[in-house]
Amino acid sequence: MHHRSEFHDELRRAKNSADSSLQLAMAVPQLLGSAVAAIGLIAAAAVTVPAMIPVVALSGIPLLLVSRANSEEMYSFSFGRTPGDRERFQLEGVLSSRDQAAEVRIFGIESYLVTRWRRLYDERITELVGLVRRFGRRSVIAAAGVAGTFLLVLGLGWWMVSSGTATLADTAVAGATALLLGAQVQQIATSLGQLSEHGLRLADFERLLAAGIERRAIRRDPAPPLRRLVVDRLGFAYPGASGRAVDDVSFTVGAGELVAIVGVNGSGKTTLAKLLCGLYRPDAGTVTWNDRPVHDLDLRGEVGAIFQTFARYWFSAADNIAIGDVARGDTADPAAVRRAAELAGADEFLGELAQGYDTRLTVELEGGTDLSLGQWQRVAIARVLYRDPSLVVLDEPTASLDPQAEAALFATLDDLRRDRTIVMISHRFSSVRSADRILVVDRGRLIEQGTHEQLLDLGGHYARLYRTQAAAFA
Ligand SMILES: Nc1ncnc2c1ncn2[C@@H]1O[C@H](COP(=O)(O)OP(=O)(O)O)[C@@H](O)[C@H]1O
Ligand SMILES: [Mg+2]
Repeated sequence: MHHRSEFHDELRRAKNSADSSLQLAMAVPQLLGSAVAAIGLIAAAAVTVPAMIPVVALSGIPLLLVSRANSEEMYSFSFGRTPGDRERFQLEGVLSSRDQAAEVRIFGIESYLVTRWRRLYDERITELVGLVRRFGRRSVIAAAGVAGTFLLVLGLGWWMVSSGTATLADTAVAGATALLLGAQVQQIATSLGQLSEHGLRLADFERLLAAGIERRAIRRDPAPPLRRLVVDRLGFAYPGASGRAVDDVSFTVGAGELVAIVGVNGSGKTTLAKLLCGLYRPDAGTVTWNDRPVHDLDLRGEVGAIFQTFARYWFSAADNIAIGDVARGDTADPAAVRRAAELAGADEFLGELAQGYDTRLTVELEGGTDLSLGQWQRVAIARVLYRDPSLVVLDEPTASLDPQAEAALFATLDDLRRDRTIVMISHRFSSVRSADRILVVDRGRLIEQGTHEQLLDLGGHYARLYRTQAAAFA
């Protein structure tokens, strides 16, 4: 968890600093321009009054120091506050998201969230005010430096004229040159300050890119189509948790099987699903794909999973499905998209949208429309089917559907199974009757398995919960 939040901070920082590369690119020609102008002026001054050159050059030093200090502080301001910022943005997201609105309202946590958001916001503003004050003080010092130089130049000119070292005209020219030079020195100091700030930010960005490339560099063999998935004495505990979320679980799934995992909330179904997909590394036991551990394989081409919180993209309906296999890229085949939608039972309602499959699936954008939850779930399933994996894992994609709609969806899945292996998870015991095999988990353990009829005959946990739930929905 710790590492993950560190990664998010880094990501946020890198996002900010991606802009820095542009600003860096703009600061460079500015700097070069000023440098060229300054060299010209210095050459002119050297001809008229060489004595003024060091005086003008000196005026750049306080500016340089101030601008360096400012940019360093600006950097640590944006760097140091990123976790707070992220929390604030997340709160903004929750508060403004329609997805979360119901939850926020049911829990009555809106004002609590707003208060937290305000506190983070106030902290940020207080810091910013302090920062601006310090910037102001430094600017006064720098301005005093420039004014001092101006006085020095004037004094030097007056002395040269009165001592007869230079004519009034020469001195006037030299004075003007010196002031112009001063302006260029200021510009150089500012540009150098910007360069160092943007340079620091860019270093963050590059570090992140390097890390991403490193992660990608661990190449795994692409998984072959699934023949057999073997789970052997699998155990997993979340860091810091007292017990195991999955404990000593063993079972085998053959190609083309439809296996359901059922259990009450918190019994470990989602954790088990993530272990099957190789998302977590087991603490004990193994998951093997054909005959190799899942974490040795690149499963992306062969596993499609829909978890409880699946994504709803503000894309067109077609893109919402085609994103299931971005490897196909722009060669996204409209016929294949339609086929996936047909299999998932989404073709009918998508075809009826105002612009068909090109309709944006959000009302937040011009010409867009929204789908019902059940329709979204079918789009999510189409997304998985478009990828055409040999193992499909569905973790309660239907949790908020009514039991009839869930049963209908599972029936669809049963139809499109053929040579595809499906592991579906539900806490509804009534929805999974058609599965080839039902695995019943309780407190992380696999306590019963068999067909619906076998489990009812057994008269255990499954039979008890099935009757209770059936009664509730009767
Ligand atoms: N990310 C997590 N960190 C710590 N504990 C977790 C995490 N996710 C789930 N758990 C715990 O692991 C147990 C199993 O959770 P989960 O697999 O989500 O159950 P289910 O999907 O059956 O509702 C629960 O006790 C839950 O509180
Ligand atoms: Mg779950």
